[in-house]
Amino acid sequence: MHEKEKDGVSASTFKILSAMIKTSTFWKAHFTQNLKQQRIDWSREATISSEEKSKLLYSIKAFQLGETGDGEHFLAAVRRRNDRIGEPEYVEAAKLFVKEEQKHGANLGRYLDTIGEARATADLGDWFFRHVRHFNRSLELWTITIIIVECAAQIFYQAVHDATRCELLRDICKDILIDEAHHIKFQNERLFVIFQDKGFYARAIAVTWYCLLFFATAHAVWIGHRRAFMAGGVDMKDFMRSMYYKFFKSLQFIHGKQEVESQPVLQIVRG
Ligand SMILES: [Fe+2]
Ligand SMILES: [Fe+2]
Repeated sequence: MHEKEKDGVSASTFKILSAMIKTSTFWKAHFTQNLKQQRIDWSREATISSEEKSKLLYSIKAFQLGETGDGEHFLAAVRRRNDRIGEPEYVEAAKLFVKEEQKHGANLGRYLDTIGEARATADLGDWFFRHVRHFNRSLELWTITIIIVECAAQIFYQAVHDATRCELLRDICKDILIDEAHHIKFQNERLFVIFQDKGFYARAIAVTWYCLLFFATAHAVWIGHRRAFMAGGVDMKDFMRSMYYKFFKSLQFIHGKQEVESQPVLQIVRG
């Protein structure tokens, strides 16, 4: 007997996935709890070598700047959606998500201060992002952009972790990697919810521009930060393969073709 389908997803799969999407109350509790965790041992001495600095600092500074945004435009898109569908808990969860990103920026900034390096005040990627965000009022566009950037960030912090012998910097990277794994789940779930409202043509169009955005962002990140990636043993082929794998998992998820699973990001256990 054929199972009735809902927008290409079998009814039972849709039911399972809907049940596995965590509530905003869950995410609010998760971020609240996670923000209390102190995983970095700041008593450690910063021992980054000058060779490591020459390969990593430019990118660390750029990521530090990127992580310190106030999330104002993203949160405005979240509030607009809330005005339409009324989900105040999601607004609260999104605010805590932004706070967690700011924590990453604060920790990287504190590290730069510790080693006597000036923080970046401008970066080409950051400049571009800060300017285009004014035109982005769509929560869908914000969510897919964040997912793609989070994918790149996971590979980046893993590469920095592997490229340095400075335990303090490795601690900071581990802390970020633990947080980011949840960020992707949080955003994948939101995109899944948004995606369910689309019909066939809207989905096909959406996936097309997701892919274009993915292609452009992956190449921009690689070109801007290849030196740091390569210092961590990640060449262009590795980077693109990992990016594609993570992005593909997100696309699968929003199509209801897989159950929620952890993305294999915490390779830090090997280090
Ligand atoms: Fe982050
Ligand atoms: Fe993140």
